[in-house]
This record gives sequence, structure tokens and C-alpha cells, in this order.
Amino acid sequence: MTTLELKRWFRARMVPVVAFTAVTVALSAPLVHCARARADAVRLAREEAARAGEALRSEMQVRPGLWRYGAAKLTERLAESGLSRTALVVLDGDGRRAKVDSAALPPPRWALWGRAEVREGGALLGTVYVAEDGWPLVATALELLAGFSLLGLFLGAVLLGVPLRALGEAEGRIRRLLGRLALTLQEEDRRRIARDLHDGVGQALTAARLELQALRARAGLDASEVARITARLDEALEEVRRSTAQLAPAALAELGLRRALERHCATVADASGLVVTLSWDESVPGLSAEAETACYRVVQEALANAVRHANARAVRVVLRARPGGGLLLQVEDDGTGQLPDAPVGRGLEGIRERARLLGGEACVGPAPAGGLRVEVTLP
Ligand SMILES: Nc1ncnc2c1ncn2[C@@H]1O[C@H](COP(=O)(O)OP(=O)(O)OP(=O)(O)O)[C@@H](O)[C@H]1O
Ligand SMILES: [Mg+2]
Repeated sequence: MTTLELKRWFRARMVPVVAFTAVTVALSAPLVHCARARADAVRLAREEAARAGEALRSEMQVRPGLWRYGAAKLTERLAESGLSRTALVVLDGDGRRAKVDSAALPPPRWALWGRAEVREGGALLGTVYVAEDGWPLVATALELLAGFSLLGLFLGAVLLGVPLRALGEAEGRIRRLLGRLALTLQEEDRRRIARDLHDGVGQALTAARLELQALRARAGLDASEVARITARLDEALEEVRRSTAQLAPAALAELGLRRALERHCATVADASGLVVTLSWDESVPGLSAEAETACYRVVQEALANAVRHANARAVRVVLRARPGGGLLLQVEDDGTGQLPDAPVGRGLEGIRERARLLGGEACVGPAPAGGLRVEVTLP
């Protein structure tokens, strides 16, 4: 069976692309949000630090030496500037931490700091750091990440799943078409061989027979000797005719499957002495040319096997519709039913292959009445 591996080929190329797309979708919105919200929070912290710096400056002007010991006063001034719930750190001009910090809230865990310097006549009197709480930003980013990761996964599944499904169906269709093509080519080959056999060996034997007759008249040969050779030639001709008919069942095209099978069963019965019965149910659906050829070949092979290997007395060929639609074909004999452990010839394998190529299946096993049953189902 041909392996196309379209799905594997597609998966190998698309998985990295789809994974990249899904990760991009999952990360882009949270990252953009994070960057913008962080810039906003830092700007706010800087503005608040500037206001706190102003409050500190006026406190320094009022109490230049004592400001650093008046946490209550500074808190008051900050409250006046609308900064009552601010986490802040104050350093004096020498970089030492001033006591006024005790008036402030403790800085949050995810702090984003804004900084402002307090200067007088160019000299650095102090520095104020004000913290903004960064947790709401982190929390929103995490929520966005969760939501967009789900979206990324869904998108990835759709991007990969939909084409894979379509490819799987296309692969199945191509495989069936290739199978039918193989069968058609096989039949074409058989027809060519049959033609060559008929036109080559057949014509040569006929010519030899005619020449023998002419020679007998001319040379006055012994009539009984000539008759013996002629009989041999007739046998060979008959053999060629049989092989030709086997290779290219003209009957199938001329008579249709039912009549062709009836004729073939009768021929086998005559030649082998087996009782061959054909049971054609009226429910048998209309079949394609490929399916008809397959049925004919399966019956041909199964009957040949019954004659050659089964030591049977009777063979039954059954064709009927399957309950779920399609065709059921059974050939069962009442012989030994002994299958070898290891595969021997090509006949049974050929039957399985024909069924598979047409989308059906074949099963070979014991028949209820003893012997062997070959069962083929076609869609
Ligand atoms: N109806 C049957 N009854 C008993 N044994 C069978 C029957 N059909 C097949 N077999 C056994 O299964 C073997 C495989 O059959 P298969 O048709 O594949 O090969 P073959 O008939 O030996 O050779 P080929 O068909 O290639 O000419 C046979 O050799 C025979 O031993
Ligand atoms: Mg066989």
C-alpha cells in the first residue's frame, strides 16, 4: 500500500510555526499591558515624589534644623498635599535616612519607585522616594496571560487540527484512487498478455496445425500419426484459449458480473467435477467496473484454490448486500480447510489486496460446514 505521509510532512513543517503563533498570541497582550501600566505607575510615583518633595521643602523652610525630628508635622503637610496614604523614604542631604519615614506607610512588596530631589540654591537638601503599588499591574498581567494562553492554545489547535483533518481525508481519497489505478493497470497488463498469447502463440499453433494438414496431403503421411500430433496441437490451443479467458475475462464486459460468474462456475464444475452453486441475491447493489472485476477475480482465485487444495466436493458462491450498505461476497467449500502456517502462494494475499484497494476487507477462515470460507466486503 502506498504511504503518502502528507500529514507527517505537514505536521513537521507546521508545528513550529503554530507553536510560535500560539506563544506570540499568549504573550503579546500581557507584555504590552505590562509595559504601558508600568510606565503609568512610574509616572504617577514621580509626580507624587515631586509633590512630597514640595511638602518637605516647605517643612524645611519653616524648621530648617528640626524638620527631620517632626514626623507628625511632615505627615500633616503630606496630608495637605493629598499624600496621606503614601509609602515614602526620605534621605537628607548627606544621604542618611531621615526619621520622618516613620510617618509613612511601609513600601508595598511590588513597589515601583518615583524619586524627587529637594534643592535650595543648588545645594541638595534631601531626596524623596515615593512607592506605587505594582501588584495590581502584576495581577492584571497574570490574568491576561492566563486568558491569552487559552486563546493561543485554541488557535494552535484550530490551525493544526483543521488542515490535518482535511489532509487526512485527502490522503484517504488519494490512496483509494491510487489503489484503483493499480488495479486498472494490472487488468490492462493482463489484457495485453492475453492478447499477445492469443495473437502470438495461438496463431502460431493454428498455423502449425494447418501446415501439418497440408503436409499430410502432400507427402502422404500416416493419418493416425498426424491425428495424434493434431490432437496435441488442439490441446495446446485449448490451453491457450483457457489462459486467455482467465487473464482477460471477456465474459465480464460482454455478459455482466452475474452471467460471467454463472458461466465461470459452470466451467469450473465441468472441468473439476465439483458441485459449484452460485447464489446471487436480488439485493446485490450496482457495482463499479473495478468492483465487478475484483469480485470476478476473487471468485476465480477462491474456486481455483478449492479445486487445487481443498479436496472438496462442493463449493458455494454467495453474493448479497450487506445490512449497512455495500456488498458481501462469500466463497466456501466443504474441504479440509487447512491453511498453511506460513504464506505460500500469492492468491489469498491478492484477494486481500484487491479488497483493501477498493476500501473493503477480506477475511479467510473456517467455514461453518467445515472447509474454508473466503469472505470479502466492499463498500
Ligand atoms: N480452499 C482451500 N482449502 C484448503 N486449503 C487452502 C484453500 N485455499 C488455500 N489453501 C491453502 O492456502 C495456501 C495459500 O493459498 P494461495 O491461494 O495464497 O496460494 P496458492 O494457491 O498455493 O498459490 P497461487 O494462488 O499463488 O497460485 C495454499 O497453498 C493452500 O495450502
Ligand atoms: Mg491460490
